[in-house]
Amino acid sequence: MCGIVCYVGHQECSGIIMDGLSRLEYRGYDSAGIAVLHEGNIAVARQEGKLSGLVTRLNESPLPGKMGMGHTRWATHGRPSENNAHPHRVGSVVVVHNGIIENHLELRAELEREGAQFSSETDTEILAHLVSQTLSKEASLKDAVKRSLERIQGSYAIVVMNESSPDELIVAKNASPLVIGMGENEMFAASDVPAILKYTRDVMFMEDGEMARISQSGVELTKLDGTKVNREVKRITWSHIQAEKEGYKHFMLKEIHQQPTVIADTLRGRVSIEGSGVATELMGFDDATARRIRRIVLIACGTSYHAALVGKYWLEKLAQVPTEVELASEYRARDPLIDPNDLVIPISQSGETLDTMEAIKIAKAGAARILAITNVVDSAIPRASDGTLYTHAGPEIGVASTKCFTAQLAALYMLAVHLGRRRLTLTKDRARELLENLLRVPTLMNEVLKQEDRIKQIAQDMANSRDALFLGRGLSYPIALEGALKLKEISYIHAEGYAAGEMKHGPIALIDENMTVVVVMPNDDSLKRIVGNVQEVMARGGKVVGIVSESDVESASIEMERIIIPDCAPEISPLISVLPLQLLSYHVADFKGTDVDQPRNLAKTVTVE
Ligand code: AGP
Repeated sequence: MCGIVCYVGHQECSGIIMDGLSRLEYRGYDSAGIAVLHEGNIAVARQEGKLSGLVTRLNESPLPGKMGMGHTRWATHGRPSENNAHPHRVGSVVVVHNGIIENHLELRAELEREGAQFSSETDTEILAHLVSQTLSKEASLKDAVKRSLERIQGSYAIVVMNESSPDELIVAKNASPLVIGMGENEMFAASDVPAILKYTRDVMFMEDGEMARISQSGVELTKLDGTKVNREVKRITWSHIQAEKEGYKHFMLKEIHQQPTVIADTLRGRVSIEGSGVATELMGFDDATARRIRRIVLIACGTSYHAALVGKYWLEKLAQVPTEVELASEYRARDPLIDPNDLVIPISQSGETLDTMEAIKIAKAGAARILAITNVVDSAIPRASDGTLYTHAGPEIGVASTKCFTAQLAALYMLAVHLGRRRLTLTKDRARELLENLLRVPTLMNEVLKQEDRIKQIAQDMANSRDALFLGRGLSYPIALEGALKLKEISYIHAEGYAAGEMKHGPIALIDENMTVVVVMPNDDSLKRIVGNVQEVMARGGKVVGIVSESDVESASIEMERIIIPDCAPEISPLISVLPLQLLSYHVADFKGTDVDQPRNLAKTVTVE
């Protein structure tokens, strides 16, 4: 977690750094800080709480200077406080860090024995002490950082600055992201591209075990052992405007509304109706391999896990490959059986989730083939995989994932059709029909978005609820789980998702007149049975909100609140029926006045265990 930005160049830098941090707040927002070098002195300003506090402070006391670094924090070691906020300073050295130093207790004890005095509870301060101590023995700042890193176990993306090194920043990376941006006589580094996109589109993604010396005139990238690295400079094609709110009240609302475009982008150039097929570029395996796959294992966390649950239905039904779905944190907690003919599919919006990353290592050790489904290009997960099916959703800033979820679904659906064709479990005509249905999704999503006023009315009532149940069957069961997760994440209302058939086995005991039950019930094979569940809830006084298809007559006589979704082929219903649930959660949270884009205790990217 945490966001880092640094700058060295010809411009006053504190505005540039603060602007960058504002685009990284999704990575953590419990405290923030900045350090700027000016006339041989480094000034540091740190503040507990959101970035706005630091902005006010800098307005009152600006920090001049043309080289500096900033950090927005999500606490791991040490509570959120000004003292624990980064940058950490020891002597002439300041450090910002994203990651976890695993051997921090031993190192801290050792440093304290040698007389070091600590001013924070963080693991990061250890690094500042190590660099400061080593600097007296080493010729260069880079060497001092290198020697210090050799003593550290764990994950890090760091920036180090020294008062006596007026034109250089040292950056290094291991298991936490860091990208270098190259401008005209100015250089940047940051945890993520949007932080620097306003200033440059030319970037270099650092790999694990690399460090760089960054100065106004350029970058020297090496491995930790000093071997020179020549890394390709990539040109980013999306603009920083795409990462902003575009008039919506929150990023989450903007991202919900972007979904028709996002799905069109994810499908663009990949689906061929004439050829009844899906382009396989980047998938990392050929047709013969596709036919050899014995089992698929989908691994993910949170919302991406719910996408995986939907994927299982499609992969088993359309491609007829036995498919298992694993929570990444549980997969790595046991000794899973892995076969070289397994296709392991990690799904991760951020491409950085630590548990998912660790699960990949286990699957790789078992010689399985890895195909990632990820949104963030060149992030850790695609880099560790044999191939990647990118979801082209653009940056997702709201902590609650919405557009990336539906983009993941679109990618999984395409993959299922692709494998179905290669394995001859789908005829050409059936594949064409499935793909035509998929191409209708953007139009159908637009129809759902027109229901927003109606959803808002229902949300106003729900905002007073203490609990909610979400029910679904078949393909709608993972959607019920996702609806419950969205509601609890952003509105803090206690919500549970259940397979409707499980209701009688326990949750029915919760039903009374105070319980809202949201039932996902599109026109499909399960409709009759789920109407039965709705009647059971109504009979016990529960309030039901049904997500129902336009032409549904099965539930017509039931007196419940309805959100109408357009009729669609059953296979694509998850991509449609999740939208009302996203909007419902959003408006409930907005009525309650919670911090929708940055809900308490959460962070966008979970790079800790
Ligand atoms: C989604 O709304 C959540 N914030 C969270 O569950 C998220 O889906 C999970 O942390 C996985 O993230 P990833 O897709 O980036 O791996």
